[in-house]
Amino acid sequence: MKGIILAGGSGSRLYPVTKVYSKQLTLIYDKPLIYYPLSMLMLGGIKDILIISNKETIPLYKQLFNSGAHLGLNIEYAVQDAPNGIAEAFIIGEKFINGESVSLILGDNIFYGNLEFFYKALRNNVDATIFGYQVNDPERYGVIEFDESGIALSIEEKPSKPKSNYAVPGIYIYNNDVVNISKNLKPSARGELEITDVNREYLKQGKLKVEKIGRGIAWLDTGTPEALLQAANFFGVIEQRQGLKVGCVEEIAYRMKFISKEKFEKLINSIPKSSYRSYLERVMVDF
Ligand code: DAU
Repeated sequence: MKGIILAGGSGSRLYPVTKVYSKQLTLIYDKPLIYYPLSMLMLGGIKDILIISNKETIPLYKQLFNSGAHLGLNIEYAVQDAPNGIAEAFIIGEKFINGESVSLILGDNIFYGNLEFFYKALRNNVDATIFGYQVNDPERYGVIEFDESGIALSIEEKPSKPKSNYAVPGIYIYNNDVVNISKNLKPSARGELEITDVNREYLKQGKLKVEKIGRGIAWLDTGTPEALLQAANFFGVIEQRQGLKVGCVEEIAYRMKFISKEKFEKLINSIPKSSYRSYLERVMVDF
């Protein structure tokens, strides 16, 4: 299973910082936003990861993660010339995916809680698995309509009259058909290759599994300054209460045994003296 993090976009809602770098590099409490989706893929056991962004930001991601070897990962990079739509990730990533299945996560989507729903879906996916999550403002998202027995009937992108409160979060699992399906898409009215149209195609073929995510999981949006502040506060509260970090990719690499104790120690020694480093030193002693 390959992993893709789509971390580009125009970022107009977060101007002026997005004049300089993409929003997935902004700080959510104590680490860049992209650490959270990356940690989710890592916890799912995915080690081959492609980061897609615009050409200005790719060098910054490279500075941040390099080849990923220090985390026991293989991280590759690709440029998306313009925000032509989420489904374009599978066309850009075709070579990287290399005939395998793939899980795509949007670089601004954060999940917190028991992630078993995701691990289970990774283990059991046959064709395509997406998720449904209850929200207050479904019209901002892809929305799924279910029948009484919980079978998905339709999916619509940002409908003005949503048929349910179930939004589709930005984490998707597909078999390799996704590459051809994406190549055959036509741009939508807003000029994008829509991920919702990919999901509709799988649904049409009777190959789409939709798993509802329970209310015990937090799915946080980070699209606006308010949402970023809320997410930072949310993780600040949890981390201060527990003394444990959320989305700390260095810790996860060690706990998942992607790297040995020796490599972890070397990694820690490369970090300047800081509370982040002290935390990792504590992890090494405790685990
Ligand atoms: O967050 C989940 C929602 O994401 C889904 O419910 C929708 O079905 C899906 O279309 C998408 O909604 P948005 O249209 O609101 O996504 P947005 O344009 O904000 O893009 C999501 C992230 O992906 C964002 O961080 C920017 C990045 N992106 C987006 C596009 C369209 C790219 O890197 N390249 C792109 O071409």
